[in-house]
Amino acid sequence: MATRIRKPKQEKPSTMEKIQALPDQTKREILGTLTTEQLAEMDYMWEMWARPKQIMPKGDWFVWLICAGRGFGKTRSGAEFVRMMVEKGRAKRIALVGRTAADVRDVMIEGESGILACCPPWNRPEYIITKRRLVWPSGAMATTYSSQEPDMLRGPQHDLAWCDELAAWQYDETFDHLKLGLRLGRKPRMCITTTPKPSMMMRQLLKSQGVHVTTGSTYENKSNLSSNFFQEVVGRYEGTSLGRQEIYGELLEDLPGSLWRFSTIERARVSEMPEMRRVVVGVDPAIKSDKDETGIVVCGLSEEGKGYVIADLSCKESPQNWARIAINAFFEYGADRIVAESNQGGMMVEEVIKTANANVPVKSVWATKSKASRAEPISALYEQGRVFHIGIFEDLEDQMVTYQPGQRKSPDRLDAMVHALTELMLKRKAPLDLAQFNWGFGKRDNPWRL
Ligand SMILES: Nc1ncnc2c1ncn2[C@@H]1O[C@H](COP(=O)(O)OP(=O)(O)O)[C@@H](O)[C@H]1O
Ligand SMILES: [Mg+2]
Repeated sequence: MATRIRKPKQEKPSTMEKIQALPDQTKREILGTLTTEQLAEMDYMWEMWARPKQIMPKGDWFVWLICAGRGFGKTRSGAEFVRMMVEKGRAKRIALVGRTAADVRDVMIEGESGILACCPPWNRPEYIITKRRLVWPSGAMATTYSSQEPDMLRGPQHDLAWCDELAAWQYDETFDHLKLGLRLGRKPRMCITTTPKPSMMMRQLLKSQGVHVTTGSTYENKSNLSSNFFQEVVGRYEGTSLGRQEIYGELLEDLPGSLWRFSTIERARVSEMPEMRRVVVGVDPAIKSDKDETGIVVCGLSEEGKGYVIADLSCKESPQNWARIAINAFFEYGADRIVAESNQGGMMVEEVIKTANANVPVKSVWATKSKASRAEPISALYEQGRVFHIGIFEDLEDQMVTYQPGQRKSPDRLDAMVHALTELMLKRKAPLDLAQFNWGFGKRDNPWRL
């Protein structure tokens, strides 16, 4: 696997973290001198709590791009940036743009790291939902926009903008209109807070002039994250290619020669499962059963003829156990067969499955072709936008983007997926009924006549 597993770097702490690290006696001396009001006020002193990376950088930038892992504290940094600019009187007409209208409301404004939670009660803006507006006591005003409605940003002008999760926006146009309207005041500026995704827009932004880039990982904000959240993100992604994006905030670069590109898979992601015409379970059995992984991937073919990866249930189990998992999946997803590779010396895949349940139809595929030539047509279907992933399959996707044709190690999940999608999308239709076919012999308009 080509995934780099990096040790989280030790980053500079916040002032509060430095105070926390002092001996108890010194801490008491510092904090003991403060009144209750001052202590309450301290809750809202972002300079005390923020790690250096979360504070507006110096310099002559137009865009401050915080491109970091999940839970790094991106949204909080964006909200605090807006608050600080309003408090300093440097922003009066602000644009707040999120992926959807609900994201702007629930995350950027009303969320735990949003503007209302960051602003102190004595200078908190009023949120007028019907007007999509926040109004501060000073008269400064922020208007909310959704990336799904680019036209809303055609026309309005602003002196400050905050974009959250830009990489997940649906239309690049929204960003273009926003930039064009960012021309009020002496020095209009923009803050973008996002986990990166391999898109053209992200690539261009990262190398544009006037963009100050801050990067960081989920680890850096560990002390402020619930252990559940931290476990969920780090446990799920650490060690996978996607982890470099989701935990470390890296923009993923494709490996030359690999059959799948990050951006192709990202484009293929959907959240809803359509009606399926057919479902099959692909199985690529391990050679040494409980040491190697057995690939078990459930795929479907929609009514419109599109392919879907529905579930990845791959495991390191004995033949009896993986057969049980594959059979359960067969029933749970309403599959019509299990397609299993049978080229492993002496491994009677069909027999293993039939022993566990004689009623499950199994189709054995004898891998006569090389792995690469089986995978290539499937990768072409992805390129054509004919295959989708329902959700994220981090380990399977890791194999897809790191697999290089000719590589010796067999990517088991990838093979199981290739078997399933080949069965659904590349097998020829039922043979023509020759008796019914009108050859047109003897007719003048015979289309076959040269
Ligand atoms: N410097 C900080 N001090 C205390 N809490 C923080 C700090 N930075 C972020 N947080 C908190 O950590 C949690 C995750 O931050 P958030 O900004 O939502 O992360 P992201 O947008 O990167 O996923 C939130 O509860 C946020 O308020
Ligand atoms: Mg966020």
